[in-house]
Amino acid sequence: MTPELSPIDTAKFVAAKTAAGFVQSGMRVGLGTGSTAAWLVRCLGEMVQDHGLKIQAVPTSSRTAQLAQDVGIEVTTLDQVGWLDLTIDGTDEFDPEFNLIKGGGGAHLQEKIVAMASDQMIVIADISKEVQTLGAFHLPVEVIPFGMKTTQKLVEETLISMDVLGRGTAFRQADSGLFVTDEGNHILDLNLGRIGNAYQLSLALNQLPGVVDNGLFLDICDKVIIGYGDGRVDVRDAKTGETSGNRIDLAEKTNVFTDMAED
Ligand code: A5P
Repeated sequence: MTPELSPIDTAKFVAAKTAAGFVQSGMRVGLGTGSTAAWLVRCLGEMVQDHGLKIQAVPTSSRTAQLAQDVGIEVTTLDQVGWLDLTIDGTDEFDPEFNLIKGGGGAHLQEKIVAMASDQMIVIADISKEVQTLGAFHLPVEVIPFGMKTTQKLVEETLISMDVLGRGTAFRQADSGLFVTDEGNHILDLNLGRIGNAYQLSLALNQLPGVVDNGLFLDICDKVIIGYGDGRVDVRDAKTGETSGNRIDLAEKTNVFTDMAED
């Protein structure tokens, strides 16, 4: 039975399903983190279980690793495979140059390491993630616990000379206190409103000793696959500048939804 998906879940699903079509047997594949990437993992799980797809998958978080195992995908580590053919991940924002803000789920460090160790990165998103200029979404900065308040001050001083609209910073909270990443670090969210020069900002932030990495993904993404609530999909290619359209048949029988109903 196919449950009624909300337009936003439909958009995420069709983007993920289209991206799964780029995955072939024998590939080493990076699996992103977040609700859109979770759809991808379910689609790949179905391809593994029902169609004999054989891949080596490297998850970008403990959450994705768990989901991948739950749907029958064998996971390995980046160090085991060394390099990846393809990484598919969600995003919090993408701009016309295919630059991204990621880390809304706090996994951007592993996500960036995995994406940069891949021949190709495909981003999957619903259309709400498209922006003209990055920065409306908070920019996550992963900070080590030692001296974290001092690092926050250094970040705030750094922002004074940056081309940004707002300069608010706040450590991300979880239900049980400070949010902790898979690496045991914390996330400082920067409310910048608009980022005028993402390259300068990224370099300046990453020069601070307590900063591990920030959520700007610059010149990393090769394709953006945009899903819409009515099942339409656009595939935009960074190299060619071309966009091709498609539509996913939502009535098609798939175990992806059955698996969800059983969760
Ligand atoms: C995880 O840290 C993030 O980078 C996610 O990829 C990003 O937040 C997109 O998540 P959703 O697909 O849930 O919007």
